[in-house]
Amino acid sequence: MTQEETNAIVDRYQAKESAILAILQDIQAKERYLPREVLEQVGQRLRVPINKIYRIATFYRAFSLTPRGRHEVCVCVGTACHVRGAQRILDQINLELGIRPGETTKDRNFTLETVNCLGVCAAGPVVAIDGQYFGKMSSPKVEGTLKKFRSDKADKKEGANGKA
Ligand code: FES
Repeated sequence: MTQEETNAIVDRYQAKESAILAILQDIQAKERYLPREVLEQVGQRLRVPINKIYRIATFYRAFSLTPRGRHEVCVCVGTACHVRGAQRILDQINLELGIRPGETTKDRNFTLETVNCLGVCAAGPVVAIDGQYFGKMSSPKVEGTLKKFRSDKADKKEGANGKA
């Protein structure tokens, strides 16, 4: 994100400190995370100490201080999914993507997370990718499910240019 782009977001809210949450949300939406140098710039523009911005950024789960993937893979490890083999699903995804929960692939295509319940326990084990639920998941289904998101042409193009 360029300095001009950051300024444009801050200006959209008249550089008001009270709009700090909205500003961070806009940056998160654009970058999929909150880059340190952008937060410093926002702090200077709003005249807000950087530690205050970090407190807000770390308080809300919607914000990330590290790069996120274009696709979020969320494996449910709640009790109902656990007893139906969620750990095997997670292990298979670890193997396919080479990342552990909380990590993002080097091409920034996928971020892997776990949750304790997705609210559809009867369909377990469940994996959600970008909010789309895949129930009755099994290890053999993992590759094909991820492939649907890998084969997206725009992602392939972006992935080729992705930074580590
Ligand atoms: S425990 Fe997995 S959906 Fe509820």
